[in-house]
Amino acid sequence: MLITFEGIDGAGKSTQIKQLAGYLSSQDREVLVLREPGDTEVAEKIRTILLDSKGEISPIGELLLFSASRAELVQEVIVPAIAVGKTVILDRFFDSTTAYQGYGRGIDLTLLQSIICISTCGIIPDITFYLDIEPEEALRRKFSKTSIPLSFESEELDRMERSGAEFYRNVRRGYHEIISHNKARFVTINALQPVAAIHRQIITILEERFPV
Ligand SMILES: Nc1ncnc2c1ncn2[C@@H]1O[C@H](COP(=O)(O)OP(=O)(O)OP(=O)(O)O)[C@@H](O)[C@H]1O
Ligand SMILES: [Mg+2]
Repeated sequence: MLITFEGIDGAGKSTQIKQLAGYLSSQDREVLVLREPGDTEVAEKIRTILLDSKGEISPIGELLLFSASRAELVQEVIVPAIAVGKTVILDRFFDSTTAYQGYGRGIDLTLLQSIICISTCGIIPDITFYLDIEPEEALRRKFSKTSIPLSFESEELDRMERSGAEFYRNVRRGYHEIISHNKARFVTINALQPVAAIHRQIITILEERFPV
């Protein structure tokens, strides 16, 4: 089984994935948590280029780097894990590419589809949880434990996060568009709720849709 989490940076994906992985493990399921980009030797190097680079990366260069990282993860880790019956939880997958590189950077969506198909070997998640939040609120969360002034230009943010408020509004709109075309796969969650309430909602939906 493949479960993916989507949403803009700071929406609460990693927080929920940690909770869900703990819950599923306590149910004696073999769980593997992975994040994109990363989680193979090569993919982690690509992650460093994508997130830590100080200079510019062209939109197409960015797309191909994310896709290369995904191809490594799919072939080296995801396909073998699913083959032995593990539950794989992915922190971002190809919907992030459609939202960020498509709606955010403006790359043609048909072109994206072909590249996504190549990099994923056609794998589609069984269910995708989308955590919905406004960009300004997500930014506030990122800075909540610091005294650094709130800004999309802050040095504290990674290269993607420094893309700005307008970019994030387009990405969020992109997610809403993607969901309207994939209603059966997506579950939209209001990310403003408390962590425990979101966790309960996720568990309830999973148990309803995939009873053991
Ligand atoms: N439901 C929530 N309510 C309030 N704060 C939250 C909630 N969920 C997560 N947070 C806090 O918001 C911040 C961002 O959460 P988290 O790292 O899980 O987001 P993320 O979606 O994984 O972000 P990124 O895409 O940057 O990895 C953290 O400080 C986390 O503790
Ligand atoms: Mg995270």
